[in-house]
Amino acid sequence: MTGGGDWQRDVLRDLADARPDPVARAVPVPVPEPEPEPEPAVRPAPQPSPPSPSPPAPREARDPRVPAPAPESLPTVDPRLALALGRTQHGDSVTRRAGTSLRRLTASATQEVAEQSRLAKEVQQPVTTGRVIAVTSIRGGVGKSTVAALLGRTFNHYRHDPVLTLEADAALGTLPVRMGADSVRWSCGDLARILTPAMQLTDVTGYLVPVADGGWLLPASQGRVGAPLDVRTYRTVTLALRRYFAVTVVDCETLPGDVARTAMDTAHARVVVAPMTAEGIHGTRQVLDWLGQLPHSALAATVVALSANTPDATLDPKTAVAHLRETGVPVVALPYDRHLAQGGPIHTAMLGRNTRDAAVRLAAEAMHRAVRVR
Ligand SMILES: Nc1ncnc2c1ncn2[C@@H]1O[C@H](COP(=O)(O)OP(=O)(O)OP(=O)(O)O)[C@@H](O)[C@H]1O
Ligand SMILES: [Mg+2]
Repeated sequence: MTGGGDWQRDVLRDLADARPDPVARAVPVPVPEPEPEPEPAVRPAPQPSPPSPSPPAPREARDPRVPAPAPESLPTVDPRLALALGRTQHGDSVTRRAGTSLRRLTASATQEVAEQSRLAKEVQQPVTTGRVIAVTSIRGGVGKSTVAALLGRTFNHYRHDPVLTLEADAALGTLPVRMGADSVRWSCGDLARILTPAMQLTDVTGYLVPVADGGWLLPASQGRVGAPLDVRTYRTVTLALRRYFAVTVVDCETLPGDVARTAMDTAHARVVVAPMTAEGIHGTRQVLDWLGQLPHSALAATVVALSANTPDATLDPKTAVAHLRETGVPVVALPYDRHLAQGGPIHTAMLGRNTRDAAVRLAAEAMHRAVRVR
C-alpha cells in the first residue's frame, strides 16, 4: 500500500489501540496453495452468515447510557421496481452464442485454454496480507460499480479465501443491487464504529451482506440521501477489514473526490474505468498523467477498463486503446453487454462470452499488480 505509514498510525490512534502497527500484527489471510489447474469456485469456508443475523452488540450498545439502535434492514430496490425489471437478458444474442460455440470448436482451442489457465492462476495467486483493489473513474455513470461487481464476482469464483466487495460511494450507489443484495443494513459508517481488533472473521461477517455465489458485500449507505462517506471512515474500515479478506474490491466515488483520491493512493492496485468516448478517453488520460507524476508513481499498479456501455459507440477502439497505452498502463476492453446494460443484479451465467473473458483478464491484471508491484 502506498504512502501508508502515517495514516495507519492515525487510524490506530483513532481506534484507541495501544499496539504499534496494525499491519505487523495482521493475521495472515488463510490462503491455500496455488491450484495447478483453474477450477470453478468452491468455497469451503467460511460459510456466509445468514442475512441479518444477530451480530455481536456494537460498542455503543454495551454502554447503557448510550443506546445505539441497530439499523433496520432496507430493500435495495422498491419491490415494485424489482418486479418491473422484466426478463433477464443474456449478454450475447442466440445467433452470437451459436457462432461462438462453432468458432470454439474450430479455432486454436488449446491456445485459448492455455491463456485462460494463465489468467486464472494470476487471479488465484496467494497473498500474505489482504490486497485492496480500488475502482474509480473521472466521470460518473461510466461503469465503476459494474466493473467492481464483475471483479468481486470473478475473485469469488476463482479464489478459495474470503473476498469482500466494498462500496465507497455514498451517493446512492448501485453496487448492492449489482451484487444481487435484496436488502442492506450495516454500512461503512456503522462498521467504522463497531470493528475492534479482537473480532474474528465470523463476528465481522455478521455485519456484512453475504453474496449469493460467495463472498461478502459492505455497502456505503442504506441507499438513502444522507451524510457522505468521509476519508476517516474509509481509512478506518479498509484498514480494519483487510485483516480478514484476501482481496477487497472497492467501488469508489468519482475522482477527484477526497475518498476516491485516498482510495487510489492507499490501494495496492487501481482500476480506472474509461468510457468509450473521445472526452472520456481524454479525461482518463489526464488522470493517468496525474498518477504518473505522484512521487511513488502509482501508474505501475494501475489498469484501465475501457467500458463500452452503449452499442452505438463510434470511437475507433484501436486509437482509444493506443492513446491510453502511451502511459504504459494495460488497457482491458469491456465490451457492450446486453445483460449489463439492462441494470439490476449481475448474473455471471448471463454475461456474454467476451464480457466474462474481459472480467477475468481485468482481475488477473489487477491482481498481478496488487501482489507484485510496490
Ligand atoms: N459493459 C457494459 N455494457 C452495457 N452496459 C453497461 C456496461 N457497463 C455499464 N453499463 C451500463 O451503464 C450503467 C451505469 O453503470 P454503473 O452504475 O456501473 O456506473 P458508475 O460509474 O458506477 O455510476 P455512478 O458514477 O453513478 O456510480 C449501468 O446501469 C449499465 O446500464
Ligand atoms: Mg457506481
